[in-house]
Amino acid sequence: MKILNVVGARPNFMKIASLMKEYKHHSNIEPLLVHTGQHYDENMSKSFFDELGLPKPDINLEVGSASHAVQSARIMERFEPVVLYFKPDYVLVVGDVNSTISCGLVTVKLGMRLVHVEAGLRSFDRTMPEEINRVLTDSISDILFCTERSGVDNLTKEGIASEKICLVGNVMIDTLLSNLEKAKKSSIIIQLQKKGCVNGDDFALLTMHRPSNVDDAKTFSRILDALEVIQKDIPILFPIHPRTRRNLAELGLQTRMDSLRDIHLMDPLGYLDFLRLNSCAKIVLTDSGGIQEETTILKVPCITLRENTERPITAEIGSNQVVGTDPEKILTAYRNATSGKLKEPQVPPLWDGKAAKRIINILLKNCRNQ
Ligand code: UD1
Repeated sequence: MKILNVVGARPNFMKIASLMKEYKHHSNIEPLLVHTGQHYDENMSKSFFDELGLPKPDINLEVGSASHAVQSARIMERFEPVVLYFKPDYVLVVGDVNSTISCGLVTVKLGMRLVHVEAGLRSFDRTMPEEINRVLTDSISDILFCTERSGVDNLTKEGIASEKICLVGNVMIDTLLSNLEKAKKSSIIIQLQKKGCVNGDDFALLTMHRPSNVDDAKTFSRILDALEVIQKDIPILFPIHPRTRRNLAELGLQTRMDSLRDIHLMDPLGYLDFLRLNSCAKIVLTDSGGIQEETTILKVPCITLRENTERPITAEIGSNQVVGTDPEKILTAYRNATSGKLKEPQVPPLWDGKAAKRIINILLKNCRNQ
């Protein structure tokens, strides 16, 4: 069975890593890896390949950054000959980035079979580029693997046949669980202590890169209003996405950020350093999707700086409070989390480190039945 696996942007790498590891146990599977090059910086891409033990991609499409239309068009144009050359049994895409839908579309137009891992998640907010990517990818996929029950329910409501949908757990959590011990060896906290950024592991961790939060000066500064208060209580570590760093300068917010002495900006971190901070933080503030899931497993209180989540289980049984960008709401959530008022978070069903195994068993069975 030949499977062509696609990665493009940072959150894809940890999802594909558990599958690539699991394929090694199956001599009857030939896995190929295509990197679209949507993310390309050393610290947004290569460091993840090194730390996660991902093989060098068989092909790198090297599309780089551009508008959504140009980036998607470049991916499609360069991916088509790859699919035609390798003629895989399946093309497997993960998540919800531009690479996911662009490669998916090429695949089905060539009459090949498309597998979507992390299917069915819905924020019901069509202004998010990822939501469009999710809805479209799911509507053309042949096999849809879900991380949580809401995914199955959403796909069913959208009329996707039940035999195409499988609830298998979370491949990103497979990777987290298998790297926790390694992450404990990271020296990132010691380095930050030496620089005087933190004292022990008494710190908050912040990530922010959604266009809705960081492309708009008013929203960005409202979030800063809340962060200004929180950093007086606890130092905030902020590994900053290139989009966010650029926007701080372009939106005229750099001086204000510089004045907040206990928000410590740093370059994007590698997987293990980030996991170390994520697991030791007193609280995490984020607009990422994946981090809501990681904090749930790590049982670290998470405040999501978005009006909605496509991962509702993290708020229903996990440690996540979805509060949006109103400073008062962020501060109330902060006080709830730090006063220990929140209920003990639970681990979502099937987030047990075995999702990749389940996926591969289903694909093998499905391929035999073709
Ligand atoms: C993309 C995904 C988003 C995901 C995020 C994780 C889409 C629509 N969005 O958003 O779902 O949560 O990745 O990071 O696919 N840049 C660099 N170096 C890089 C990559 C990007 O400097 O290696 C800069 C460029 O200026 C680029 C900007 O970041 O224009 C945004 O990159 P892009 O891939 O377009 O979107 P993300 O915001 O990273």
